[in-house]
Amino acid sequence: FASIKLLTSGNVFIGAKIFSVTSQRNYKVAVVGASGGIGQPLSLLLKLNSLVSHLALHDIAPITPGVAVDLSHINTPCRVTSHKGPEQLAEAIRCASVVVIPAGIPRKPGMSRDDLFKTNAGLIRDIAKAVARNCPQAILAIVTNPVNSTVPVAAEILRIEGAYDGRRVMGVTTLDVVRSCTFIGELNGVDPTLVSVPVIGGHSGSTIIPLFSQSSPIPNVCSLADIRALTTRVQEAGSEVVQAKAGGGSATLSMAFAAAKFTSSVLRALSGEKNIVECAYVASGLCAPAFFANPVLLGQYGVERNLGFNCISPFETEILRNAMPELLKNIQTGYEFVYRRN
Ligand code: NAD
Ligand code: LMR
Repeated sequence: FASIKLLTSGNVFIGAKIFSVTSQRNYKVAVVGASGGIGQPLSLLLKLNSLVSHLALHDIAPITPGVAVDLSHINTPCRVTSHKGPEQLAEAIRCASVVVIPAGIPRKPGMSRDDLFKTNAGLIRDIAKAVARNCPQAILAIVTNPVNSTVPVAAEILRIEGAYDGRRVMGVTTLDVVRSCTFIGELNGVDPTLVSVPVIGGHSGSTIIPLFSQSSPIPNVCSLADIRALTTRVQEAGSEVVQAKAGGGSATLSMAFAAAKFTSSVLRALSGEKNIVECAYVASGLCAPAFFANPVLLGQYGVERNLGFNCISPFETEILRNAMPELLKNIQTGYEFVYRRN
């Protein structure tokens, strides 16, 4: 212990090594769209997260103050505040370390995620503008569909506002990973919390590419037909929920779990914890599309390192190649929305 010296408030010198011991454990997290199907259970899970000291709930719905009062009665130290309407968005997000955005309309049966774009792109544009002007240092976790296009919209708005940092803008694709782990767990008869499967590409239909060749444990399915079926199940899992809810919306509870897991990882990395890896849809220089989902190492500024993806199987190569035109088109849709002439 004699050789341990406090160098600065953030670093401890031990022998020849410097370990980061940033010990901040009290973050403000803003949830924009907090009164919705995802927003409410997500806010509940964040209220239970010991790294969150202030949870700011924003929504345009009249129930928002009630959701905040309800959550505020839970005996955890996290303070909960309510912010309603566009006029209170700035105060909701000011000084937030993370802004999670599940605002926007969900699918009904027969709709594609792209059908949500017209409505949801406009609100992502307004929220991104507010982030640029009130909390440019915040990490953005975008849940709003179609993620393949809303993330480019947010990124370009931040760029126009002079507040863009590609490390801080992430589309949340964690639900694709959660589903892949669940399905492999069921198939292999193993605890799904012990399964890991990277999912790359984007977050809609054919652009969702689970890499079962890299799953741990290796799936107990040998034939290509089985892998194909499992892949299709993951790609169509969102529609499976939309159909089962029969007009009542899309995945909310599993998504809240996924977004809470992702936010928790972002906060743990912010607080100095090392080796935190999540899949996310981020600005990418690794392949043709400007945005691409794959595992990223999280750090104190969001994405610390884009880990890309390792050797993929011939089947995965084939479906990735087939997905590229769709992903490129989705990204272009986002750009055209931002730069269209009115
Ligand atoms: P919902 O309709 O239940 O909730 C959306 C909430 O957003 C509502 O409370 C609404 O009042 C609020 N809202 C709308 N405009 C707003 C604005 N300008 N500012 C603040 N709040 C606003 O919908 P949901 O089921 O919670 O889904 C939300 C979004 O998440 C949808 O676009 C859905 O497609 C998407 N989603 C994404 C994933 C994913 O994996 N990334 C998974 C599931 C759902
Ligand atoms: C999902 O994957 O569940 C979400 O993207 C919602 C949807 O519309 O499918």
